[in-house]
Amino acid sequence: MSEDKLSYYITTPIYYVNAKPHLGTAYCTVMADVQARFRRACGMDVKFLTGMDEHGEKVAEAAEKNGFDSPQAWCDSMEPAFADLWKTLEISNDDFIRTTQPRHIAGVQKFLKVLLDRGYIYKDAYDGWYCRPDETYFTETQVRHHEEERVAAGEAPADPEHPLCPDCDRPLERIKEESWFFKLSAFEQTLLDFYEAHPDFIQPETRRNEVLSFVKGGLKDLSISRSTFDWGVPFPFDEKHVAYVWVDALINYITALGYGSDDEAEFDRRWPAQVHVVGKDIIRFHCVIWPALLMAAGLPLPEKVFVHGFLTVRNEETGKIEKMSKSRGNVIAPEEVVELLGVDAYRYYFMSDVVHGTDAPISWSRMRQVYNADLANSWGNLVSRALNMSAKYFDGCAPARPANYDDESPLKEACAGVYDAYAAHMASFDYQDGAADVHAIVAAANLDIENSAPWALAKDPEKADELAFVIWNILEVIRIAAELYAPFMPEISAEVRRRLSLPAEPEGTLEELCRWGGLAGGSPVEKGQALFPRLVD
Ligand code: MSP
Repeated sequence: MSEDKLSYYITTPIYYVNAKPHLGTAYCTVMADVQARFRRACGMDVKFLTGMDEHGEKVAEAAEKNGFDSPQAWCDSMEPAFADLWKTLEISNDDFIRTTQPRHIAGVQKFLKVLLDRGYIYKDAYDGWYCRPDETYFTETQVRHHEEERVAAGEAPADPEHPLCPDCDRPLERIKEESWFFKLSAFEQTLLDFYEAHPDFIQPETRRNEVLSFVKGGLKDLSISRSTFDWGVPFPFDEKHVAYVWVDALINYITALGYGSDDEAEFDRRWPAQVHVVGKDIIRFHCVIWPALLMAAGLPLPEKVFVHGFLTVRNEETGKIEKMSKSRGNVIAPEEVVELLGVDAYRYYFMSDVVHGTDAPISWSRMRQVYNADLANSWGNLVSRALNMSAKYFDGCAPARPANYDDESPLKEACAGVYDAYAAHMASFDYQDGAADVHAIVAAANLDIENSAPWALAKDPEKADELAFVIWNILEVIRIAAELYAPFMPEISAEVRRRLSLPAEPEGTLEELCRWGGLAGGSPVEKGQALFPRLVD
């Protein structure tokens, strides 16, 4: 931690503890990890947070169903599934929050007290519709509207005692109980004004429009407590009530910074967050309810919510594209993909071949295709050919940086501006284009090998300087590409650095490292095994 570095605070959703992490949750976590690594490489003081969402009725039920003594024991038993997968996938989170930790509970209780003191919560009788699986409340109007739409689309009318959930189409329950309410309705105009003044708050644009029309449709006060079960954070001023899971969960973003503890220095320094990365299913919670809660508590709002779509798969029988989900039985386990591709190529495939704002189809055949084209044939092939030739022609070493290294050359030209383009793409979560920027310099170097035919130069002693210039240029591209690929493929980049005898930890910011001329050369190079052995069908 350094005071003069710019703080960059990035979060993922905290995942429900009832299900093991899957390709979808891993997708979101890797996306945030790539951003965290990119920002660290740029010299920022990054805090990257992920964690587990452990409260709520469903968790208590699952604990009982699975024969655990307490919900806490159930949550504890699930923790390794997350910790292990994040370790496997090289997730570089700086903290892991669990909503049952004392630091979180203290922060939620402080937050509730602040809302009470500022007059934004009140107790009333709740009578309305509740989706138990989604743990979401719906108004009469929302439910009626959904039913009208279904019937108009030719579907059979639902049982009036149990109309269907507007989000997931599962039967709703009528709930009548005393509850604490949050005055969400008071924030309708304030939120609209905020979105207007901060056009980049919700990205991408389509999601922003979705939120705007939702808020313009009117906001109702939100029930934020439950008194029919006790697996949650007790209201400090009304112990019969526990906090509604979503209010509890959202507050993790500040409790992880020490909000509500004896020392709020980190909170003061790092809040507001630079970005919350979330899936489109939880957009209202992050773009409407969370901002309103923060406004009510008198706290600043995060700078950005980046909303990604769902991973989808093609149903082989019907040919239809479906969301990947457990209930459809079409999930692919992250471990299966790791087995086929290896971790770094796994990360590369999901981050570079998927457009992050929209739903994205994935398939085994596409994974193989991207792996073979971009990694085996292009990046891996370049590293192996270049290191091979360097070792062969320069006595096991890289040629020393030639005196004329700064002369115009096709590769120097290919690398000019690559950092700027890449950094702009990466900063806006456009990883597809960020990866394409790197791929372009790698392709240029592969082409340059063909054009300059080092094997022919090597035969002519008079061309020794030219040979050194050509090989040094190619190795210089490899050095730069390894730095730019590192947020996607940290292990492979570390291996390339090692084979080039470069320091294990890069010295300098990414921008500095991308300047032409960084490779001193003259040190041993190691050919090594193929970085990405070709996949055969
Ligand atoms: N616990 C809440 C979040 C609280 S945050 C204050 C929750 N948890 S969850 O386990 O259901 O995780 C939801 C997130 O998982 C989604 O927003 C998304 O990021 C990710 N995904 C789940 N399924 C997915 C796909 N099929 N595809 C891509 N991401 C998916 O909601």
